[in-house]
Amino acid sequence: MSLANRSLVTIDDLSNEEIEAVFSLADEMSEAMDKQSRVCQGKLMASLFFEPSTRTRLSFEAAIHRLGGNVISAVDVGATSLAKGESIADMAKVVGSYADIIVIRHPWEGAAKVVADYAGVPVINAGDGSHEHPTQTLCDLYTLKKERKTIKGLRIALCGDLKYGRTIHSLIYALARFNVARIYFCPGRGLEMPSHVLRKLTQEYGGTLYEHPVAKPLALGQRVDAIYVTPSDSHQLALMPDIEINIDISEGALYVTRLQKERVKDTNQGVVSTEGYPVISADLLKGKEFKHTIVMHPLPRLDELACEIDADSRSMYFKQAARGVPIRMALIALLLGAKKMDISKPEAPAAQKIAYPVYKRDSGIRCSNPRCVSIQETETKYIKPEFKIVDLEPLTLRCIYCEHEAKPQYIASSDWHQGLLASKKYHSADSHLTRKIKPQNLIIFDSESEAQARGFKPSSYATRKGE
Ligand code: NCD
Repeated sequence: MSLANRSLVTIDDLSNEEIEAVFSLADEMSEAMDKQSRVCQGKLMASLFFEPSTRTRLSFEAAIHRLGGNVISAVDVGATSLAKGESIADMAKVVGSYADIIVIRHPWEGAAKVVADYAGVPVINAGDGSHEHPTQTLCDLYTLKKERKTIKGLRIALCGDLKYGRTIHSLIYALARFNVARIYFCPGRGLEMPSHVLRKLTQEYGGTLYEHPVAKPLALGQRVDAIYVTPSDSHQLALMPDIEINIDISEGALYVTRLQKERVKDTNQGVVSTEGYPVISADLLKGKEFKHTIVMHPLPRLDELACEIDADSRSMYFKQAARGVPIRMALIALLLGAKKMDISKPEAPAAQKIAYPVYKRDSGIRCSNPRCVSIQETETKYIKPEFKIVDLEPLTLRCIYCEHEAKPQYIASSDWHQGLLASKKYHSADSHLTRKIKPQNLIIFDSESEAQARGFKPSSYATRKGE
């Protein structure tokens, strides 16, 4: 397999072996940084950062310069034609005709996928809303490998904003694929891991999720909200439901994130309290259970990571940031086809590829995530809502752009009414008909009123259970 001409939108766009190949090349390049200036000579990278960035943008730009290439950039939506109402797809086609590779950060979830669909050149997602940030994950995994020698079998605690933190979402899939043993979730209040991430973890990566375990707090007041045990760890936590579980990350890592204030503000939720938000301090690290624990953070930090631990040999966050340059140099060189690596065939697929039925219709249900690219006014002209049907009981759809889930309540079949208005009937999604209607005939409504507005009448199965 070659990485040339591919895009990196989600961490699942790379196999474990391809990630290892990026790491090997990054090792090679970091040993001879000043000898790389011909690798991408004559190549142009478009750097489009429509959200604030220091590390990601500057390390990408440093990377292409060190490879001998050049950069064109836009850092403000207001200074581009997007502000005039141009669609992301049009922008992608144009920029793709100017540059050999595009790096994009955008507040809309799924925006990087749209750019990759239309640009015609490799596209790297440098963060799309709270969805994913796969290149930060490459820096995180690389650091874990360097500091802990192997990722397999590690125990890792994820602390802070697990809901809006995109680095966390990409990282958790990768950790599961690389067979860490256990992941402990220690979210701030109201910042728990989203349901779509949890479903993907258990349905596609195997492993078991123990929600609200009887577990010792990680530290004073820092609760462990869930434990994910990968298939490589055979220990059955469920067999001892009443015994308090000891949280052991002494040989593992504490991965902390800041509260993503800007995204909390964007939702109707308003403000999330930082009371009880995990804080990693010198005092905490004095505990003998943290004697060998490394501390990681994608940065920037707020108050969750005390400056007093910066000089501590367990603190890895500045190393993580520094490693961003060789990692991104290796990635750019591989996607541009300027470097080739021997990439071994996977022994076994890292994640179970499930061929979910797809739901795609011009009208009907739309994604309900306000930050999803598919529902933005400038994009609805050409993006058709598209979902994977990830469960039937209850009917659950996953948006293919932002991956948020929807549990729609009303359905119909395009087959049974045979075009006759009088026989167009809608049913409750919790009736047995959800399983009976073939996916290709399924019509799914946002609401009962939408079904009626489209000329459907209630069938005898239109009442929802319990109503
Ligand atoms: C992260 C991001 O932008 O998601 N920063 C980064 O890229 N290193 C984390 C954050 O902003 O909190």
